[in-house]
Amino acid sequence: MSETPVPSQENLTPTQAQVAKPAPQVLEEVSAPGRRKFLSWFFVAWASFAAATGGALSLVLRFLFPNVLFEPKSEFKAGYPNDYEVGTVDTRFKDRFGVWIVRVAEGMYVLSTICTHLGCTPNWLDAEGKFKCPCHGSGFYKSGINFEGPAPRPLERFKISLADDGQILIDKSKKFQQEKGEWNNPESFLTV
Ligand code: FES
Repeated sequence: MSETPVPSQENLTPTQAQVAKPAPQVLEEVSAPGRRKFLSWFFVAWASFAAATGGALSLVLRFLFPNVLFEPKSEFKAGYPNDYEVGTVDTRFKDRFGVWIVRVAEGMYVLSTICTHLGCTPNWLDAEGKFKCPCHGSGFYKSGINFEGPAPRPLERFKISLADDGQILIDKSKKFQQEKGEWNNPESFLTV
């Protein structure tokens, strides 16, 4: 059996020469940009996935650990009535709880330290017997009634009572405004 003769490159017709061209180099040239394109899409997809996962994770963390504002307790004990001298304004809870405790002959009441003008904190001036606001000069009597400056109304009072152990119990979640007639509420004054 005789072998089919292989034509040399010079003896090929133009069509045969085109068909016989080696293809690997052409494929190489086509596949390099394709690979780059694939890799760039891969990185874009990966980055998108990572961003989406990160966002979802932060939502889960926010749900598990929400922002909580820790405020001082609204209810607290303030010692025994006999710890307070008649005729005095006690300032020991001013910074921590934002109140003054006033002891008069008939009993006790609790004033808010928030000025009713724009919310500054007045000072108790013992020598002058009044609360004076450093911001715009409002003045309040020991009772909390405003008498000078721009404050439009008296200081507010908070609920005061006696706890089971005989200590003074103050509840800042319940306030009383004089201009609404709420100082007549027995919870705004402790008779001792
Ligand atoms: S805030 Fe007190 S007088 Fe203005």
